[in-house]
Amino acid sequence: MCGIVGYVGKQNAVAIILEGLKRLEYRGYDSAGICVQKGRKLNLIKKAGRVDNLSKEVAKHRMVGTTGIGHTRWATHGGVTDANAHPHVSSDGKFALIHNGVIENYAQMKAFLLKKGYKFKSETDTEVLCNLIAYHYAKENSRTKGQSRFVECVRKTLRHVEGTYGIAVLCVDFPSEIVGARKASPLILGVGEDEYILASDASALVSRTQNVVYLKDGEIAHLTPKNFFISTLDQADVSPVVDKINWSVADAELGDYAHFMEKEIFEQPAALENAMRGRFSADGSTAQFGGLNITPGEFRDLERFMFCACGTAWHACLVTEHLIERFARIPVEVDYASEFRYRNSPLDPRTLFFVMSQSGETIDTLAALREAKRKGYRVMAVNNVVGSSIAREADGGIYQHVGPEVGVASTKAFTSQLLIGAMIALYVARMRDMSFSDGVQYVEALKAAPALTRRALAQAPKIKAIAKRYAKYQDMLFLGRLSLFPLALEGALKLKEISYIHAEGYPAAEMKHGPIALVSESCPSVFFAPKSEIFNKIVSSMQEIKARKGPIIAITTEGTELPEGLADETIFIPECHEAVLPIVAAIPVQLLSYYIAVERGCDVDKPRNLAKSVTVE
Ligand code: G6P
Repeated sequence: MCGIVGYVGKQNAVAIILEGLKRLEYRGYDSAGICVQKGRKLNLIKKAGRVDNLSKEVAKHRMVGTTGIGHTRWATHGGVTDANAHPHVSSDGKFALIHNGVIENYAQMKAFLLKKGYKFKSETDTEVLCNLIAYHYAKENSRTKGQSRFVECVRKTLRHVEGTYGIAVLCVDFPSEIVGARKASPLILGVGEDEYILASDASALVSRTQNVVYLKDGEIAHLTPKNFFISTLDQADVSPVVDKINWSVADAELGDYAHFMEKEIFEQPAALENAMRGRFSADGSTAQFGGLNITPGEFRDLERFMFCACGTAWHACLVTEHLIERFARIPVEVDYASEFRYRNSPLDPRTLFFVMSQSGETIDTLAALREAKRKGYRVMAVNNVVGSSIAREADGGIYQHVGPEVGVASTKAFTSQLLIGAMIALYVARMRDMSFSDGVQYVEALKAAPALTRRALAQAPKIKAIAKRYAKYQDMLFLGRLSLFPLALEGALKLKEISYIHAEGYPAAEMKHGPIALVSESCPSVFFAPKSEIFNKIVSSMQEIKARKGPIIAITTEGTELPEGLADETIFIPECHEAVLPIVAAIPVQLLSYYIAVERGCDVDKPRNLAKSVTVE
């Protein structure tokens, strides 16, 4: 949530920051702003609305400089106005600051600063932080431990702060320098040729450098034109580790697609290949993972798994629960990370804890991980963004390796989580009761997933035509059973988040206990009705909907015949192994939601009020 960029170098900071903001826009897009420093002058422009709005405004002015900061906002404190947009400038005009996170004790600090005569132009917590830095700067006169006064006043301020932050700060007295810091909000430092870039994530800097330092919580980065220094809030120097980003700027570009969501839907066969590469044993009967940091023996002795996540990743956990319990016969519990962190639920000592998170920065998932670790549990992470907070704090994990996911509605990250969940189930099952030959069959089935997904994607033109007919509705039900119940939840989530149609996901049989009251000619139901041992039960549920005049879109497996006239629309997916079915079944609901949203003229990649990476509670 909120994207921040800072640039120190020899090039025109304005163009680099605006490009970075455009790439970070998926993190929040209520308003945007930029501040460029020229000598002792801070040149500030900020506007409510999208980054394009800001760019148009910037183009009207002569804004030049080789040092600057920029921000794209997802509002927390204060409405969406020009005044509340970042950067904020301290009331003495000395500091400009951008911030991602929430300052929890801002009210006390604001009251203190008001008494000292500081003035505020916005309703934000960020402006309080900016003025507090100015206050400490005015008080602090000496240099400490060779660090500049600029760094010291930021350090001192942050010691008083409760909450979360990723910040970048400019000071008029230190032209060509930026001080950045983080606590529970992501911040990385790009190390380029004669330039340094601070950003919320790699997409904002990968066009200039692939060398990055992942800053840790409690670290402060000091950027100057010639060097950068990292220290901690406690004034200890940190030796930086420079990592390499393993994807290029082309991976984060639209290419021939209209939206990132469309691109990412169609990338899924390749994404699944990448997620499974090198992860099957030489004998082809099980999965293998390099980064779990737990021995097979320890794994075998586990009594229970606990999975925590948010949003779409939570749905992936529900499917994983089904597969682990079905194939490995170990009980699994799944909880929303936001609930787990406060619920204080009793855990069995022989529980292995997993978190799933595409971004690795979702604050509730990170907090759940920390809570589990605090209780002494080992925590594994399934995560896409290399070097993310969750990846770093977990005891071990499995990277998804699907490249950057830009569309706010998760697609390729979801199906790769389903795949990894299926591989975890296989890994544990093979340690327990699954036979060698069943293992080989399971592995072959997983290897076929990309090709089967490609076949499901070939239905796109048909689904697009269906979407045109169904885009007018205001309510929709998604119904599925067993491993496809979470897919019903995911289908409903996808539809509501990008098209604003009210949608609910339910276990198909459970709909009799409430949702059926909504059924009428104006409330269609999307049914997952693949060939299975409970196919007839699903057909009965469909009949109950039909009897009440509810239109039906059925998603069934090739070769399966539904009773004549039952479904108004039928989408076929290839028949496949139970572990692969949820992956293949995800495709039609992703496409349906996408095409309906496009038909309704919605901003698919930037749905209202949402953000891709939710770094505030
Ligand atoms: C937001 C995104 C969802 C995502 C969820 C969890 O709500 O819009 O697409 O599923 O966060 O994100 P994570 O990065 O933890 O998977």
